[in-house]
Amino acid sequence: MNTAIAVIGGTGRVGRIVTRKLLDRGETVRVIGRSAQRAQRHLPPRAQFFLGDVRDADTLPVPLHGCSAVVYTVESGTDTSGPDSPRSTLHAGVLNTLDALRRQEGFEPAQFVLVSQRHVTRPEHPMNAYGRMLDWRLAGENAVRSSGLAYTIVRPGWLTDRTVSADDGRIHLEQGDRRDGYVALQDVAEACVQALYCPSAKGLTFEMRNGAGSAPGDWEELFAGLSTDEPVPVRAVA
Ligand SMILES: NC(=O)c1ccc[n+]([C@@H]2O[C@H](COP(=O)([O-])OP(=O)(O)OC[C@H]3O[C@@H](n4cnc5c(N)ncnc54)[C@H](OP(=O)(O)O)[C@@H]3O)[C@@H](O)[C@H]2O)c1
Repeated sequence: MNTAIAVIGGTGRVGRIVTRKLLDRGETVRVIGRSAQRAQRHLPPRAQFFLGDVRDADTLPVPLHGCSAVVYTVESGTDTSGPDSPRSTLHAGVLNTLDALRRQEGFEPAQFVLVSQRHVTRPEHPMNAYGRMLDWRLAGENAVRSSGLAYTIVRPGWLTDRTVSADDGRIHLEQGDRRDGYVALQDVAEACVQALYCPSAKGLTFEMRNGAGSAPGDWEELFAGLSTDEPVPVRAVA
C-alpha cells in the first residue's frame, strides 16, 4: 500500500502477529495502544508506535492521519458500565475510530478490518453476561458495516496460540454464527492481512475455526466462497 496501515491493538496477541506480517510485506505500520512499555516489549523497531486510547477520540486523529487501512483488534474490559466496559471499547471506540478517519482533510476512504468474535449474534450466550459484550460487539460491527468503508469483519472462535499442525491447519470460514470452535492466533492474523489485499474479502462478515486438513493456499478463493453482507444504509457517525 502507498500509505501507512494502522493496527489498533497491535501490541496484543493477534495484533502483534498482524504487525509483523505487514512489516514483512514492506508496509509502514502504525501501532496504536495505551502502553509504551508493552510496545517496547512486543514490537519490532520498524513498527511505529503511537500512544492512543480508542475511548479518547482526541488521541486518534494524529496516528490515523493518512492511513490507507485500519486493523482493529482491541480487547475490552468486562465491567457493566464505565471505561472498562465492552461498550466503551467495542462500540464507542469503533465509532471514535470511524469518526477520526472521516474527519481527515482530503479524506480518502480507508479499508477497515474489525476483529470481532463468534456468538456475537447470540445474546443468550454466556459471554454476554460480561458487560453485554456480545451486544456491544455487534453494535460495533454494525457501525463498520454501515460506515461506507471497504470492510471485512473477522469473527474468530476461541483463540489458541498452539502451532497448528499439518493435520488441523485447515481454516473454515463460516457464516450464520451457529457453530463453535478454536482457531490459531496466527490464522486470525493471516485472515486480517489477507483481507487487506484480496478484493473478494470486501463486505464480508465471517466466523473462523480450524479443522482437519491443510492450510489454505489461496485466500482470494476462500473469501470468494462466502456471501457478501446485505447492504446497510450508510450512517453518519456523529
Ligand atoms: N480470547 C479469545 O478466545 C477470543 C475469541 C474471539 C475473539 N477475541 C477477540 O480477538 C481480539 C484480539 O484478541 P487478543 O487476544 O489479541 O487481545 P489482547 O492480546 O488482549 O490484545 C488487545 C489489544 O488491545 C489493546 N487495547 C485494549 N484497550 C485499548 C484501548 N482502550 N485503546 C487502544 N488499545 C487498546 C491492548 O493494548 P493496551 O492494553 O496496551 O492498550 C492490546 O494491544 C480481541 O478483540 C478479543 O476480544 C478473543
